Amino acid sequence: MVAFPHTGWRKPAIRILDRPSVFLAGAVSSLLLLWAFFFFSALDSIAIFSQSKPNSCNCNQHDPAFNLQFDPPIATFYDDPSFGYTIDKPITNWDRKRRTWLQLHPSFEPRSQERVFIVTGSRSTPCKSPTGDHFLLRFYRNKVDYCRIHGYDIFYNNVLLDPNMHSCWAKIPAVRAAMVAHPEAEWIWWLDEDAVFTDMEYKLPLHRYKDYNFVVHGWPKEVYQKKSWLGLNAGSFLIRNCQWSLDFLDSWADMGPQSPNFDKWAGILMDVFKHESDDQTAMAYLLLKEHQQWYGKKMLIETGYYLEGYWVLIVDTLKNITERYLEIETTAAMLRRRHAEKVSERYGVLREPSLKDAGNEFGSWRRPFVTHFAGCQPCNGKHNPLFTGANCRKSMNMALNFADNQVLRNYGFVHRNLSDPSVVSPLPFDYPA
Ligand SMILES: *[C@@H]1O[C@H](CO)[C@@H](O)[C@H](O)[C@H]1NC(C)=O
Ligand SMILES: *[C@@H]1O[C@H](CO)[C@@H](O)[C@H](O)[C@H]1NC(C)=O
Repeated sequence: MVAFPHTGWRKPAIRILDRPSVFLAGAVSSLLLLWAFFFFSALDSIAIFSQSKPNSCNCNQHDPAFNLQFDPPIATFYDDPSFGYTIDKPITNWDRKRRTWLQLHPSFEPRSQERVFIVTGSRSTPCKSPTGDHFLLRFYRNKVDYCRIHGYDIFYNNVLLDPNMHSCWAKIPAVRAAMVAHPEAEWIWWLDEDAVFTDMEYKLPLHRYKDYNFVVHGWPKEVYQKKSWLGLNAGSFLIRNCQWSLDFLDSWADMGPQSPNFDKWAGILMDVFKHESDDQTAMAYLLLKEHQQWYGKKMLIETGYYLEGYWVLIVDTLKNITERYLEIETTAAMLRRRHAEKVSERYGVLREPSLKDAGNEFGSWRRPFVTHFAGCQPCNGKHNPLFTGANCRKSMNMALNFADNQVLRNYGFVHRNLSDPSVVSPLPFDYPA
């Protein structure tokens, strides 16, 4: 019941206001209100108290609850027999179709511009590596944690939607089907199975993407000047749910193994990038070729934060980052305050001022947003010979526990040892004061 201002928070002196029964009985509550008002005045806290309106039910929610049982009997694109989910059925006028659907389902309209839908997936068969399925489960749990905290929906696909678009190409039909299945979402965010959220608070800076339809992490110079297919990483990308993106996916898919043009493209990709055809070389080609065109102006290579970051550069920094964050919390009581998990976004906002000197991305002491275990191949175990399987597993464990600590905190526990996934300790009150 007591609302704390953002700064100068101190422990509430009286507990009586915490008891729900106090405000339940109308008449009694008014009296108590008066009493409490004067009590708080005496404590010089009127401003604090007047922020809470215990008797009004203005819950201050931006999002009215979605109406999940409402689908009016008016024909939409879903009712058109020629409309299909598969990549071989081109979709036209998607922006209008999507807009019409939203108008027919008004409960999804508020804030639809910032709605993100996450798509991820893995193969349909068990992992060859003995620890593979264990890690896939933990990777997925990590994504579900992030989605729960930020109110995002997520789809885990583990079948080939197009049997000829196997391995890394499988993401294209999955993303496309997700666009059609989720007209209420503005952005589809593809994440590889081996990408871990290592900052549970950070949110996509969508306001920066008003003029873009496609965002991927990388280094523009590497792609545009050095023509390197490693100048970006296709393991994490954002794509706007619009006609432009469907056309983009068509162009991308045209280079894939199911396409009659596959061999032609494989030759071109080898020529340009000196690398065999895969989803990432194909994506790099589209960026490079379209760079100066109108089409290409809708594509952004994000360098400002880890939309995905290479684990080799990240894992060794996690211990120091943990310490920096604890230092901040030692001096900022508000950031130590226990709270319901549902409102944890609020504490991410409150933390921002303390992070203004942290930087972001490489060399920063801000928590890395997404750590990508590229090359570790946790499921089939065929890791890149540059590193050992043991180092991959140790590093995945650390990143997952680092992330888990941010989640478990709201459940009252912590992994004291980032290398040990199975042991947690209860957190004392006001930790880490
Ligand atoms: C962690 O911090 C210590 C002490 O400031 C420093 O010596 C060390 O190089 C840092 N480690 C990394 C990986 O940044
Ligand atoms: C952390 O856990 C690992 C794995 O269980 C263990 O080998 C290591 O000794 C632990 N470190 C400390 C400081 O307890």
